[in-house]
Amino acid sequence: MKLSRRLDQLKPYVFVEISRIIAKKRAEGVEVVTFGIGDPDIPTPAPIVDRLVQASRTPANHRYPETDGLPEVRRAIAAWYKDRFGVSHLNPDTEVLPLIGAKEGIGHVAFCFLDPGDIALVPDPAYPVYSVGTMFAGAESYTMPLVEKNGWLPDLDAIPHEVARDAKVMWLNYPNNPTGAVADGDYYRKAIAFAREYDIALLHDAAYSEVVYDGYKALSFMEMEGAKEVGIEFHSLSKCFNMTGWRFGSAVGNADMIQALFKIKSNLDSGIPQAIQEMAIEALTGPQKYIDENNAIYQVRRDKVIGALNRLGLRVVPPKASLYLWARVPEGYTSASFAAQLLDDTAIVVTPGSSYGDHGEGYIRLSLTTPDEMIDKGVERLASWRIPAPARG
Ligand SMILES: Cc1ncc(COP(=O)(O)O)c(C=O)c1O
Repeated sequence: MKLSRRLDQLKPYVFVEISRIIAKKRAEGVEVVTFGIGDPDIPTPAPIVDRLVQASRTPANHRYPETDGLPEVRRAIAAWYKDRFGVSHLNPDTEVLPLIGAKEGIGHVAFCFLDPGDIALVPDPAYPVYSVGTMFAGAESYTMPLVEKNGWLPDLDAIPHEVARDAKVMWLNYPNNPTGAVADGDYYRKAIAFAREYDIALLHDAAYSEVVYDGYKALSFMEMEGAKEVGIEFHSLSKCFNMTGWRFGSAVGNADMIQALFKIKSNLDSGIPQAIQEMAIEALTGPQKYIDENNAIYQVRRDKVIGALNRLGLRVVPPKASLYLWARVPEGYTSASFAAQLLDDTAIVVTPGSSYGDHGEGYIRLSLTTPDEMIDKGVERLASWRIPAPARG
């Protein structure tokens, strides 16, 4: 077999490895508490599932869908942006594209902009798909470090002029995975000005915009003047309606960029099963109370787990949004050595920050999508754990 060189450059996807570790422990009879992947444990709201049951019996839904989705679903996405963010300028026919989950669009969009040798500005730490898509397109990622002193926002002034001049895309993701950081209007305005100055496509991933705490409301970058001239925003029903298993996301914004993504996608995939598009219509146009209900659950979990981590001496800033806690590991440990020690001693799984890039070193990420009883078990185990002195050398 002669596999591609591209495959050699690709590390196994982080959660594939973690799933393997969990399966092995469970096979040994160990009860594992996992704070690993951000995959809501709360079921999809019943009316959304009922809509699928009903829609699955319609023969028209048994056939190939259109890649650009049902007009009704595109209208529902545009209407949701208007209700939720006050963004009333999205044309459902030209500026909205449904995706087979945001991940699919985030991966494929690289092919719209990047040729071999091109540059993409990619944050680090970050959701790995930005740099993987860049690599698939044969392009180079230029790292924008996310550091605590800058609020985990890329320092746009630190990007050298020659790099900015040659870059074709810039990725941003707020509320942020893995740090839980958020961005304000001033930051988005600055990023839009930067993208305009250097003719860079600004790709904003807003998959966590609805997972918020303490009354915080996240912005859409589409709310900012000029956003649609320079970029598109990715969104997802996965985290806000507990729909990771159904695969529905969207891209909205610049019509030429949406058209480019549609062209790539229509050559590679055949869209989202129509019965699932109907679920999305139900989610987007039906009651939004589920979002607040979920967030209230996550907030209780957030506070319990932060309490347990603080008692252990780990520093965590309570996030205003996202499903994640981003905790600094004790001196002398690396992200991976601390995650391994925790797993060995307590059978608790967390994700090493280094899985999200070199600048994630020194942190671990804990997802709050763990059922309440397992959160309590995890908190108990942390309470009785004494962190051993790190191994030397
Ligand atoms: C930042 C970010 N964007 C996008 C996604 C993918 O969302 P979807 O389930 O819609 O593919 C994830 C999933 O964890 C994510 O963390």
